[in-house]
Amino acid sequence: MLEVRSLDAFYGDSHVLHGISLRVAKGARISVLGRNGAGKSTLLKSVMNAGPRARGEVLLDGSDLGTLPSFRRARLGLALVPEDRRIFPHISVMDNIRLVEAAAGPQGLVDPETILAAFPILKPLVGRYGSQLSGGQQQMVAVARGMAARPKVLLLDEPTEGLAPVIVDQMAVSLTALCDALGTGLLLSEQNIRFARRCTSAVYVIESGRLVYQGSWEDFDARPDIKQRHLSV
Ligand SMILES: Nc1ncnc2c1ncn2[C@@H]1O[C@H](COP(=O)(O)OP(=O)(O)OP(=O)(O)O)[C@@H](O)[C@H]1O
Ligand SMILES: [Mg+2]
Repeated sequence: MLEVRSLDAFYGDSHVLHGISLRVAKGARISVLGRNGAGKSTLLKSVMNAGPRARGEVLLDGSDLGTLPSFRRARLGLALVPEDRRIFPHISVMDNIRLVEAAAGPQGLVDPETILAAFPILKPLVGRYGSQLSGGQQQMVAVARGMAARPKVLLLDEPTEGLAPVIVDQMAVSLTALCDALGTGLLLSEQNIRFARRCTSAVYVIESGRLVYQGSWEDFDARPDIKQRHLSV
């Protein structure tokens, strides 16, 4: 279980996150919604200790991760799929996926066949170089690679940005099926409410670095003012 307590985050003197507290129970899937610049990526990076300077507590299965660097957090069961994907261009799709072995937890990588069964869109692409993929295909590889590390909690940053609706639907099916099969928890940053709803059971809304709402999707739907005030463009 992942728990964030009173998290503040800074870039230099700029104070970006203010007192964020949230929980992702074992195997639960949670969305963080917010406009551009709200602090979604900063939140996920702070949980991973990958960039911003953070103050507060991040606990995994009850242990405070303190100042542990990202690679140690990865080995304990956190995986971050950042918004810029970071697919390696000069190695194959399969090698991109296998590369996370070093960051996998004690149970090791998920069998590539299991990954490919969940992401059938990748099957014809496994031998291609990263540089030979479309943006949407790279995004799919990045998500598959994150899952391959067998994290306890996947930190997934706006995976649908720029994707065609049909690919977004495939991503939702692949991601939820694999999370269910492996018992993976998910902390999903999104602006695509439809996708977030399909993938998760509860939602947090962040604005200007502060949580302004948390609840189930049913509660969220009963509060159109939240969407109006904090999410509509
Ligand atoms: N490396 C950085 N240095 C300084 N300020 C930053 C840095 N990265 C982000 N910020 C600022 O922190 C705030 C939160 O940014 P963040 O990237 O977390 O937003 P976001 O919710 O992920 O937005 P988006 O939906 O556009 O990805 C913004 O005001 C942004 O300008
Ligand atoms: Mg972002």
